[in-house]
Amino acid sequence: MTQTATISADDFLKFQEFFYRKTGIRFEDTKRYFVDKRLIERIGQSGTRNFREYFSLLRFEADGTELQALVNLMTVNETYFFREDYQFDCLVKSILPEIVARKKDKAPIRIWALPSSSGEEAYTIAMCLIERWPGIRDHDVEIISSDIDTGILAQAKAGLYSARSVAHVPEAYMRKYFTKKAAGFQIDDDLRNAVEFTRVNLQDPADVRPYRHFDVIFCRNLLIYFDDLSRKQAAETFYDALCPGGFILLGHSESMSRISSLFQIRKFADAIVYQRAGVERS
Ligand SMILES: C[S@@+](CC[C@H](N)C(=O)[O-])C[C@H]1O[C@@H](n2cnc3c(N)ncnc32)[C@H](O)[C@@H]1O
Repeated sequence: MTQTATISADDFLKFQEFFYRKTGIRFEDTKRYFVDKRLIERIGQSGTRNFREYFSLLRFEADGTELQALVNLMTVNETYFFREDYQFDCLVKSILPEIVARKKDKAPIRIWALPSSSGEEAYTIAMCLIERWPGIRDHDVEIISSDIDTGILAQAKAGLYSARSVAHVPEAYMRKYFTKKAAGFQIDDDLRNAVEFTRVNLQDPADVRPYRHFDVIFCRNLLIYFDDLSRKQAAETFYDALCPGGFILLGHSESMSRISSLFQIRKFADAIVYQRAGVERS
């Protein structure tokens, strides 16, 4: 009979610290059941016999395959189309007009939506630009959307969604951008091509370094999983990734003010957002 591995309190502490260093996410003791269950699953599937062997695989495996498999299991991917819709109104009614008014060149407007999870947020931005922003006729927009979880990124690229996920999509947009299939609602190819999905660990300096010159960043419902130190590091990453004068939108329960003085608060009619000081590059 195969014995199921067990995770001791000491193992949990070791794992907690390791996972935090790798992802910025700290699992508190209240999450033990959630964490233990997934560790035991991966120990079984990876061919290791106990936590000690598995932990050594996680730390020393050269290509990081097992770490990625574990990250994919540990992430919480909850999302849906048109989540906190007022922020997309703010984007098209207030933020983009301001960006366009001060842009001196014809460079594309760049939007970074992370974490993407299964892609609903980035596709919502694309739909809102097409449907609600007249400027789309005169300006190129690049939408890049990133997540640490490679499994969920594959789903984002495939663009097939459940009824629950599309529940808040306006009826007219449903007809225009989705096709009903046996397995769910398939998003239109033009929208799929409008978004570039990439794997990025926001806590890894090497991963985020190439991400620069963004006019707008959406980072909603990620900082809630971070502690103050990881949030501060994320704020510095966003500062470097934004053009001077660029904007960042967070989830409704997240705030930049407590963690960083790098951004100014802007109160628009539809939403409160944060802005990097300075003028845009010419
Ligand atoms: C709750 S979803 C948020 C999705 C979407 N932004 C929204 O608000 O609906 C959180 C996502 O954060 C991703 N994530 C967790 N840690 C991350 C990290 N260090 N870097 C990038 N993405 C991360 C997870 O994989 C998960 O898909």
